Amino acid sequence: GKVAVLLGGKSGEREVSLKSGTAVLAALQRQGVDAHAFDPATRPLHDLESFDTAMISLHGRFGEDGAMQGALELLGIPYTGSGVMASAIGMDKWRTKMMWSAAGVSTPAFELVSADSDFEAIEQRLGLPLFVKPANEGSSIGISKVKQTGGLKAAYELAAKSDPLVIAEQFVGGGEYTVGILGDQALPIVRIVPKNEFYDFEAKYLRDDTEYRCPCGLSAEKEAQIQQEALLAFNTIGCQGWGRVDFLMDEAGKHYFLEVNTSPGMTDHSLVPMAAKAAGISFDELVVSVLRLAHV
Ligand code: DAL
Ligand code: MG
Repeated sequence: GKVAVLLGGKSGEREVSLKSGTAVLAALQRQGVDAHAFDPATRPLHDLESFDTAMISLHGRFGEDGAMQGALELLGIPYTGSGVMASAIGMDKWRTKMMWSAAGVSTPAFELVSADSDFEAIEQRLGLPLFVKPANEGSSIGISKVKQTGGLKAAYELAAKSDPLVIAEQFVGGGEYTVGILGDQALPIVRIVPKNEFYDFEAKYLRDDTEYRCPCGLSAEKEAQIQQEALLAFNTIGCQGWGRVDFLMDEAGKHYFLEVNTSPGMTDHSLVPMAAKAAGISFDELVVSVLRLAHV
């Protein structure tokens, strides 16, 4: 049938989505799929009625947060990735972390921050450095690392530009990693070694000196254990099809899950394609697999 590759959209990650979607579209076309680009920011949604399946390459709000998924359900068009509820919760780091905490999935300590918070008290409770993040955003937009006492207020104000819901999160400093998930399988773990202070927007998309390690350097036993827990983290949110769960490791080798990405990046700098490749799955095979897992 005819496939719409949804790309672009109107979130802060529009540019990243255009890159992901362009790569996905090319892969589908190489594989003989009758695929066409569809940018919901420039076309009325009901145009989707002429397609049989939607391949979601949108990131962020109105694409990854359940809104588009709900529209597709109403239109009766099968789509890739997580459903409405998991997309909505997965987009929201605060609610994701609350669900994980309730389910016994470890995540760094966190607090909600608002304009009238006692900033110094939060700095004291979580310790410094700490991370400040808009709850509903991706690609590290609006995130900063607070290193000095009194820095939380400015970091809060920056994050609040992206989303009124802002969280502060305890620093965990032993390394950044990610687990791609395809169907019910966890892919090989990738370790990310950014040259910046953390894996921020620049390190993600603009710099070429971010180092990616796959194999990630963990023992086979530890890697298998974390992959299992990543599947638990994914399933706890109710995610489906494919996704990516990011985690940090502390100096003692204990891991803490950060967030789930229900529509992970598929650019030439992106992590799931890298992990798939390590598992012997080419970019084209990955894209076709994700499409095959489309559901209503
Ligand atoms: N939000 C970006 C696209 C990612 O998770 O890869
Ligand atoms: Mg994310």
